[in-house]
Amino acid sequence: MLKKIKKILEKKNKKKIVCLTAYSKNISNILDKYCDIVLVGDSMANVLYGMKNTHKISLETIIQHSLSVKKGIKKSLMIVDMPKGSYRNPIQAKKNAKLIFKKTKCDAVKIESNNKNFKIIKEITKANIPVMGHIGYTPQFKKKFKVEGKNKREIKKLIKEAVSIEKAGAFSVVLECITPNISKQITELLHIPTIGIGSSSYCDGQILVTDDILGLSGFYPKFVKKYVNINRVIEKAVKKYSKEVKSNKFPNKKNFLYGK
Ligand code: KIV
Repeated sequence: MLKKIKKILEKKNKKKIVCLTAYSKNISNILDKYCDIVLVGDSMANVLYGMKNTHKISLETIIQHSLSVKKGIKKSLMIVDMPKGSYRNPIQAKKNAKLIFKKTKCDAVKIESNNKNFKIIKEITKANIPVMGHIGYTPQFKKKFKVEGKNKREIKKLIKEAVSIEKAGAFSVVLECITPNISKQITELLHIPTIGIGSSSYCDGQILVTDDILGLSGFYPKFVKKYVNINRVIEKAVKKYSKEVKSNKFPNKKNFLYGK
């Protein structure tokens, strides 16, 4: 088993797994020091490209951003999200997972579950590409946001889905917006780590979108904690720059490359 994957698996029931998203090297370079996992998420569709959902982001775009992210990674596990439409059947999924793996030199891919694609996970892992699953609110397949695990039918479905993902060979699974109680049950039941987003502290690890915690995205639901308002910091700097250019304060003689 790959060393980096083994390290993640060993954290279960011992240490919390820290995960964040990155779409570029400047961010991944910082995250790498503090995160176990860096995910090149298809959330870039909304966050970076201003699309209304994640459905239209292309495989080429994800690969391009992954190449940048990879440049900032030294020690953390880099996972690349497979975009919608890139894993419709086992053959296509294997072909595209191999392409992502080969081109980006990532450590694993993530695929969202539609409660049917377990064979796809099996096929990709058989090709020696580690897979992270994703259940609960899965933006590629669900039209409306809702917390899952509130009634008996949903609970049964979620637990079965998580177990099937583990059986198919995934090394971990994201639990997105699942009730605390069911996140706890799934985490206790599975042997692989669960990574929560909006799914309570009972999960083995946590993931959030970096732009959200930095206050850059403008998307702050209850499960997000904004650690800084970077928008305000950037605005202040840009405002000052603009003022200084207009008033001829910048560039200063100190900034001249030659002469006076
Ligand atoms: O695309 C993404 O950023 C994700 C995480 C939020 C889990 O899938």
